[in-house]
Amino acid sequence: MRRQLVLLCAGVHIVTYMRISVTDRCNERCAYCMPHDVAIEWLPKSQILTYEEILRVARVATSLGVTKFRVTGGEPLVRKNVVEFIGQLNKLPGVTDIGLSTNATLLAPLARLLRANGVSKVNISLDTLDAGRYRELSGNGNLADALAGLDAAIEAKFPQVKLNMVLIKGRNDDEVFDLIDFVRQKAVTLRFVELMPISTSEVLTDDNFISVGHIRRRIEKRYKLVALPEPPHDVRGNGPALYYEVGNLRNPSGQPVRLGFIGAMTNLHFCDTCNKVRLTADGKLRPCLGAHLEYDIKPVLRATGSTDAQLREVFVQTIRNKPEEHEFRNNYMPGRKMVAIGG
Ligand code: 5AD
Ligand code: SF4
Repeated sequence: MRRQLVLLCAGVHIVTYMRISVTDRCNERCAYCMPHDVAIEWLPKSQILTYEEILRVARVATSLGVTKFRVTGGEPLVRKNVVEFIGQLNKLPGVTDIGLSTNATLLAPLARLLRANGVSKVNISLDTLDAGRYRELSGNGNLADALAGLDAAIEAKFPQVKLNMVLIKGRNDDEVFDLIDFVRQKAVTLRFVELMPISTSEVLTDDNFISVGHIRRRIEKRYKLVALPEPPHDVRGNGPALYYEVGNLRNPSGQPVRLGFIGAMTNLHFCDTCNKVRLTADGKLRPCLGAHLEYDIKPVLRATGSTDAQLREVFVQTIRNKPEEHEFRNNYMPGRKMVAIGG
């Protein structure tokens, strides 16, 4: 008999979406994520959840009403057998949707397989189209690999491909129009992301922070932006991006270019539509990226004879404590890396 779903509600939030960080490791080292002057220590393997453990947590999540998952990292594609893991995740009853967040540098040879194993949405981090800048911003990454990954994603016909550009004043904000033209040609959605003080507060200074509102106004001097009241079905995110169509700019198939603005720092209503919970690589459930709170599900997972009901308890506790809004504006989070949390 089918168990009745107990939806995870936190105030007005119904949590239907879970981000899973499968690794804290990354083949790149973006300055805002893994600051170059801080020695990075990867978590020991024993602390990272096995795929079997993650699948058990995901199964419990679906029994509580979660239908959508996003696989993230670090860089998820550096973990061995991640495609097979995603295939298993996709087979869980109740899973309707799997997304992947990646820097795309390892994506080219895997794109078709990922599509075949159930990934329908791919978010690619791309902060610049300049190879030298890319190398600098990503700590020696190779732009050509990321672009090959993007092209492979387009070829593999994922129903949704988005580029995320983290705005850093003086480092890449002069490329906003180049990126808009680029996504027009590629017919994918571009989202501008405000710099957040996740791994270190040092990345966030008045010298390098630039708001999405500022960028939007700059774009509006050149193009007509039409706000989309409801994100259209094929670009619907899961929460906090605001979407616009560029009225007078069309991609090669005649569709208007779509832009998203993720104003994590400046949009006061940012958290209103958040429907997420996160599972970190080391087995902590987090109700919010921007709050210290986390609930360790690993001891329960690893206790002999633990039941799914006990795991469900950890979920319920996590969601009950989902904050009304994040604390970035008044509370930086030193000492907990974005890579381990899952962006
Ligand atoms: N501020 C804003 N965005 C960030 N990301 C990683 N660290 C930060 C930060 N400090 C972005 C990555 C990627 C997504 C998962 O999060 O560029 O697009
Ligand atoms: Fe790696 Fe993404 Fe962090 Fe850059 S932002 S270092 S690509 S996990």
